[in-house]
Amino acid sequence: MKRVLVFDSGVGGLSVFDAVAASGHALELDYAADNAWLPYGLKSDAELRARVPALLQRLVDQWAPDAVVVACNTASTIALDAVRERLAIPVVGVVPPIKPAAALTRTGVIGLLATPATVRRAYTSDLIAQFAADKRVVRFGSAALVEAAERKLRGEPFDPAALAEAMEGLFGAPGGAEIDVIALACTHFPLLAPELAQAAPRPVVWLDSGEAIARRVANVLIAAPGNARIGRAGFTDARGARELYLAFRTRGFASFAEIGAAPGFEAAAIVGGVTP
Ligand code: DGL
Repeated sequence: MKRVLVFDSGVGGLSVFDAVAASGHALELDYAADNAWLPYGLKSDAELRARVPALLQRLVDQWAPDAVVVACNTASTIALDAVRERLAIPVVGVVPPIKPAAALTRTGVIGLLATPATVRRAYTSDLIAQFAADKRVVRFGSAALVEAAERKLRGEPFDPAALAEAMEGLFGAPGGAEIDVIALACTHFPLLAPELAQAAPRPVVWLDSGEAIARRVANVLIAAPGNARIGRAGFTDARGARELYLAFRTRGFASFAEIGAAPGFEAAAIVGGVTP
């Protein structure tokens, strides 16, 4: 069975993991969260370009997956080329879903909700120029929604102001009254889909990249039809294993690891130490 490592700064990659797990392919799925460095959306480009390829290279050395999914827009839009240079296996990244949003909008106004880093990236502007040059794109960057998604998956309450602020930033911006499609360009945000839909002033189409990534992974690995098998979940801050135990356990993870500090990033199984 081919093995896939899904990587994110935190729980956001679970929105992609869920799509891959539900895609009907016989794949073994591991997960790694760089939660000691969360949120990536407030890190500099240089920091991410140095850390993400090094961390993934060490994890690939230790866990030997057949492919890596960088299930993080913030990392993909700045470090995907550097990750691909380091790794000898296929690397699938997430791309902000601007192209499908441009194809779907009827009003010609698209909302783009991402991290502060992703909204200002040249990569994002290039995508807009390539696929949505004749559309109006209203961008809003939120680190607070990343924290809200983390809290939700820890089973903790979060401040609804994060949702209200994002809705105001999109629908209240010039042109925002005409938004009919919102591209979710941070993998944490689909985990807040019901809350976002409820906070929006009116119904719109919400797009994310989960299913497209799942299709890409299956194609790249020529995966056989079947059921996913769930492997291990690793965290650079081992507290994540405890605080997020239920979110991971309900997805089938039973094996947890602590990923040590740079530059070794030694992954060690957490044996018997994880309880809800
Ligand atoms: N999940 C990540 C993304 O897709 C970012 C979250 C963070 O800021 O760490 O952009």
